[in-house]
Amino acid sequence: MPSSQETVLPFQGPSTDEASLVAVSACAELTAEAFGAGFSILDTATGDMLQSGESQPKWNWYDRLEMCRAVTRRGRPEFVAEESPLVALALPLSWRDDDPRVAVGLFLSRPLEPNEDLGPAARTLGMDTDEAVRWAADQQPWSPDVLQHTADLVSARLADRLKIEKLSRESSSLTANLSGTYEEISLLHELTQNLKLSENDEELGNVALEWLENVVPAKTVALLLTPVVEANDTQTQRGRTEPLLLTRGDCPLDDESFLALIKQLGLSAQSSPRVANLGVTGRPEWPDPRVRQIVVVPLAEGDNLFGWLAAVNHISDGEFGTVEASLMSSVGTILGIHSGNLELYRKQSEMFAGVVRALASAIDAKDQYTRGHSDRVAQVSVRLARELGCDEQFLTMIYLSGLLHDVGKIGIDDQVLRKPGKLTDEEYEHIKRHVTVGHRILMDLRKMGEVLPVVLHHHESWDGSGYPEGLAGEKIPFSARIVAVADSFDAMSSDRPYRKGMPDEKIDTILREGACRQWDPVVIDAFFHARDDIRLIVSRERHDLDGQLERLT
Ligand SMILES: [Fe+2]
Ligand SMILES: [Fe+2]
Repeated sequence: MPSSQETVLPFQGPSTDEASLVAVSACAELTAEAFGAGFSILDTATGDMLQSGESQPKWNWYDRLEMCRAVTRRGRPEFVAEESPLVALALPLSWRDDDPRVAVGLFLSRPLEPNEDLGPAARTLGMDTDEAVRWAADQQPWSPDVLQHTADLVSARLADRLKIEKLSRESSSLTANLSGTYEEISLLHELTQNLKLSENDEELGNVALEWLENVVPAKTVALLLTPVVEANDTQTQRGRTEPLLLTRGDCPLDDESFLALIKQLGLSAQSSPRVANLGVTGRPEWPDPRVRQIVVVPLAEGDNLFGWLAAVNHISDGEFGTVEASLMSSVGTILGIHSGNLELYRKQSEMFAGVVRALASAIDAKDQYTRGHSDRVAQVSVRLARELGCDEQFLTMIYLSGLLHDVGKIGIDDQVLRKPGKLTDEEYEHIKRHVTVGHRILMDLRKMGEVLPVVLHHHESWDGSGYPEGLAGEKIPFSARIVAVADSFDAMSSDRPYRKGMPDEKIDTILREGACRQWDPVVIDAFFHARDDIRLIVSRERHDLDGQLERLT
């Protein structure tokens, strides 16, 4: 809606109207104090009487308008009418150079003669004679010199008063702006600190709302996070598929009515902060009468829109302005950048999961008979690592390593890989190459750095008799020692074309005897502690690989 108010104003001081009113009231106060009479206020630009002075009689000041204008130009009090015994004194308000207003007061310039006829003087000034007589009877006479002198003093005091008033207003405006700026900076600081800690936009959004709730004079602050992926997109399971509304205070909006307001205001990702007060929300076309004042900013990074941040309903039913708009805009910008980064990270993770998925299916396609081997090795490795007290990050890495440990089999001859029965020495040597081939396949993928040692060394032996490098003991990477046990266990327990899977007791014996020879004794120890769990894992149907990958990234 084009009629709403686009707010791009700088911070501002007191309004002109406000300062102008101060000049009128200061003048009334000072003239009453010095002369015991309130002056009338005239606008010499328009010829309008702005305020009628208390106990001032009616007279035709309009004939003296030109003289009053001269008073505003010269900036000092002067007589604008002298018809003995009546005089009119004009005092410029002068709160700024081009102020067209003067204060005018009528005085008796000498004591009245007994039975003096005021008719000629009253007629010259356009006064009703009877009214002039009644008025004059109540007046103390002033000598023109004293009047002029007193007026000069009042004028000087008025100028001082206005100067002080102006300075004080400038100073409080500056203080308000400074404190606004300080609050803004401290919020930005707090939010940027939280950026590092927050894993998702909801968490950071709540931090921002908590802060805004205390700073913005609004009954409600609300953050609407829009979906980042389609609800029916099965490939991207980690993105939000439904709008999420976070609020502080008593929020009259739900996500639908919030979006209706955005639509009504015609906002987009590129929009500046938008302020709508009663001038806009009071119109018949405004969709939600519960919303009387609102500041809305988009959460966006470039053309990508991630949601909307709003302050709704001024706490004292006043108006939102540039200060609130600026604050909300700063917070919206930070949240937008954060959401943009999260989105980028999410896309990268999806791409990574896609690569792993493709590689894992390639291994499976190569050797149908051992289908599920990689998945089971991954799960058993995770169980062993958990038994060994490894942290979550390590568990993620070891899962991925288990999944991809045999990726090099992609480069091994199908005939050899699927051969039933015993392999010749030459065939065995060929199969052994899968560790170096796998290493080569993954070495250029940046995120696979921690997986590489497992791919290369999962066939090393504790006594140094393994391949490809004959590493021994703790020279073998820890992760590779774990996967080696999981790999051997799954191989022994699985059926092969040339034999059935071994019984549990036999596997136990082989593993126990192989500790310190083929396998790390510490890992074997962990195996026996977790043996029941591990047997359960391998006997279960193969789990959905996608589900596992979703946890990983
Ligand atoms: Fe292997
Ligand atoms: Fe294997």
